[in-house]
Amino acid sequence: MDGTSAPSEIFIRAVEPEDYEALRDIYAQPRACRWTLQMPLPSAALWRDRLAHLDPNRRLLVACLDQHPVGNIGLVLEANPRRRHAASLGMGVHDAYAGRGVGRALMAAAIDLADNWLGVRRLELTVFADNGRAVGLYRSCGFDVEGRLRRFAMRDGVLADALTMARVR
Ligand SMILES: CC(C)(COP(=O)(O)OP(=O)(O)OC[C@H]1O[C@@H](n2cnc3c(N)ncnc32)[C@H](O)[C@@H]1OP(=O)(O)O)[C@@H](O)C(=O)NCCC(=O)NCCS
Repeated sequence: MDGTSAPSEIFIRAVEPEDYEALRDIYAQPRACRWTLQMPLPSAALWRDRLAHLDPNRRLLVACLDQHPVGNIGLVLEANPRRRHAASLGMGVHDAYAGRGVGRALMAAAIDLADNWLGVRRLELTVFADNGRAVGLYRSCGFDVEGRLRRFAMRDGVLADALTMARVR
């Protein structure tokens, strides 16, 4: 699939190994770290290693503004033969570029990949329960809340709840 042009010059493409510093910068942001399961203060080496050894079941896309990656979405295809219809999603946008349509463009590209190229029937994700911005985006893209995971993960010294959401077709 070629890169997808979305409104307001956002360009979506597959991640490349040389994007590691941009990915590190995205997830080093306070909000992008707080609302995901990334650790604070990520090193460039960590991201260089991740991108150099990508599992073939993991598809990573980036959203670029002026050719620079400012957001990322990852689609992980289930390896278990009985769950091959399912995939999970995770995403993050650089704090300085949030609220400009980058997340929506990334989600549209991931859903197109999942629905029309990979035949995924069940897209699932986990989101901190108080992440209103992300939950709003996911609901508007057809995801429903399926359950609450209590004291799911450590965040800022507190065990925070999460929601499981899925888009099933
Ligand atoms: C959540 C996130 C991915 C959304 O991406 P974004 O580029 O900021 O969002 P967009 O500008 O594309 O907006 C998409 C939708 O999000 C929601 N949204 C955006 N800004 C919002 C805000 N300030 N408050 C509530 N909802 C908001 C709206 O539903 C919006 O839909 P619209 O296009 O009809 O306005 C991004 O803000 C982010 O990475 N946040 C930190 C990390 C994170 O939360 N990752 C997800 C972990 S599950």
